[in-house]
Amino acid sequence: MSPFHALLALHNLAALVWVGGMFFAWMILRPAAVSALQPPERLRLWFDVFPRFFLWVWAAVLILPISGVGMLHMGFGGFAQMPFHVQLMIGLYLVMLSLFLRVQLLLLPPLRRAVEAGDWPAGGAALGDIRRMVGANLLVGVVLVFVAVARPSF
Ligand code: HEM
Repeated sequence: MSPFHALLALHNLAALVWVGGMFFAWMILRPAAVSALQPPERLRLWFDVFPRFFLWVWAAVLILPISGVGMLHMGFGGFAQMPFHVQLMIGLYLVMLSLFLRVQLLLLPPLRRAVEAGDWPAGGAALGDIRRMVGANLLVGVVLVFVAVARPSF
């Protein structure tokens, strides 16, 4: 295996964990939690799920640009000759990073406070904000993977 393809495999695994994790949370766990759990248990579940998942997202946040820039230098002659689909990839990565940081730094603390205080209506509102942000990030992630693999040129 060439070093380029080793980096590409790592890069793809990181993308899979991040985008696939959001897909599972949004499309599978969210409706299952709504149908199976009452609000207090549901909020406690998400309060436990987010930090576990976000640890892996942080790993992806670091691995994607490091492996991506490595591939740019190994396979494309550096930033100066960066193909258009990689330019788009970097732009959309920055959008995904901003949305993730918003959830981690601004939306998770109110959920933590609400769960610790047993304030379920406030917890429900905080969870709704996180749900919308993760849904938006999932959409951006799907578009990004499409761009990365289909390599559109405009
Ligand atoms: C700063 C961030 C990033 C950089 C510098 C970067 C760079 C690259 C480069 C150079 C390639 C190889 C392109 C080629 O072989 O034509 C690549 C492939 C890929 N990237 Fe990224 N990337 C970044 C972020 C992301 C993110 C956030 C995702 C998805 C969540 C992603 C998903 C992919 C996928 C799926 C491929 C494989 C495309 C294929 O082999 O068909 N990348 N990336």
